[in-house]
Amino acid sequence: MLQLFYDHNDFPNARKLKDERFHWLQDIGAVDLGESQPDSTGFLFGYQYSYSHLINQVGDRPGIHDRPEEREELIHLDEVLRVLAVNGIEVPTPQTWVLEIDEELPRDLEFPLFVRTRKSSWKRGGDQSKVRNLNELADESDLLRRAFGWDTTILVRKWLDIAVAGQWMFGDAPQEIRTWVIDGQPVAWSFHYLHAVPNPVGFPPSPADLSQLKSMAALVAKPFRSRLIAADFVRDTNHNWHFMEAGPGANAGTAHEAVFKYVASRLIGNETDLAGDAVGGRL
Ligand SMILES: Nc1ncnc2c1ncn2[C@@H]1O[C@H](COP(=O)(O)OP(=O)(O)OP(=O)(O)O)[C@@H](O)[C@H]1O
Ligand SMILES: [Mg+2]
Repeated sequence: MLQLFYDHNDFPNARKLKDERFHWLQDIGAVDLGESQPDSTGFLFGYQYSYSHLINQVGDRPGIHDRPEEREELIHLDEVLRVLAVNGIEVPTPQTWVLEIDEELPRDLEFPLFVRTRKSSWKRGGDQSKVRNLNELADESDLLRRAFGWDTTILVRKWLDIAVAGQWMFGDAPQEIRTWVIDGQPVAWSFHYLHAVPNPVGFPPSPADLSQLKSMAALVAKPFRSRLIAADFVRDTNHNWHFMEAGPGANAGTAHEAVFKYVASRLIGNETDLAGDAVGGRL
C-alpha cells in the first residue's frame, strides 16, 4: 500500500512560511514519517535541506520516495538545464550562463540579466534581481556570495519581459504557472503566485495555453527520475511561454489546496475529482 508521509520536524518551518501543505496532507490521510516501517512504501513531502538530511529521513526506508538520488538531480538549475541539453530536449527558456568563482566572465553576456544562484533566486520578485551592466552584475554576485558562500555558483539568465498577473509586496507578480508531473505525466497546473495575487490578470489560461504547457512539462520532466516534479513556466508580454525552473515536487510550495490534494492523492493511486478554477486545475 502506498502512503503519503510528512515529517513533523517540518512544522515550525511551515508555520513560519504559512505553508499549509502538511495540514492538507493530514486531511487526505498522510502520516508522520516517524510512524513509517522499514517496509513502508510511498512518498514524503517536506523541505529541501540537504542530501544527508534526506538520507537521515528515508535512508532506511527504501520504499519511500524521493530517493536521495532522485531528488539530487533536480536541486540545481544549472544541472537541470545541462541534463535537458545533453538529452537534446528543447524548450523555450532564457539563455543561461553559469558563473563559477574565479573564472573569467563569458564575453557574450547580453544585458539586462536576471541573477540567481544555482539553488535559488533568494530575492522575491524578479525586478530586484535585474542587472543592467557589468558593475551591477559584480555587486549582485557579491551579495549572493556573501549570503550563500564565497564559492556559490551563480547563474545569469537573459532578461524576460514577463506579463504581470497583479501587484504584491514586492512589486509585479508574474504570470507564472507551476505544472505538476507524476511519473512523467503532467497532471495539474496552478498559478504560482496565488498566495500573493488571488485574482490574477491573464487567468484562466486558454485550452491552447494549457495544452502547450502540458507538452512542455512532459518534455522537461522526461530525463528525471523523481515521481513528482514541479516545472514552472512564465508568460512573456508577447504571450509566449518560457520554462523557468524545475524542482522536486516534494518540496514545491503552492497555495492551491485543491490542486495540491489532487496531485498528492494521485501519487498513491487515488484519482480524485478536481473541478479546477481560474487559477488551477487538471492538465
Ligand atoms: N530571466 C528572467 N527574466 C525576468 N524575470 C525572471 C527571470 N527568471 C526569473 N525571473 C523572475 O524571478 C522569479 C524567481 O526566479 P526563479 O524561479 O528562477 O527562482 P526561485 O523561484 O527563487 O528559485 P527557488 O524556487 O529555487 O527558490 C520568477 O518567478 C520570475 O518572476
Ligand atoms: Mg521559482
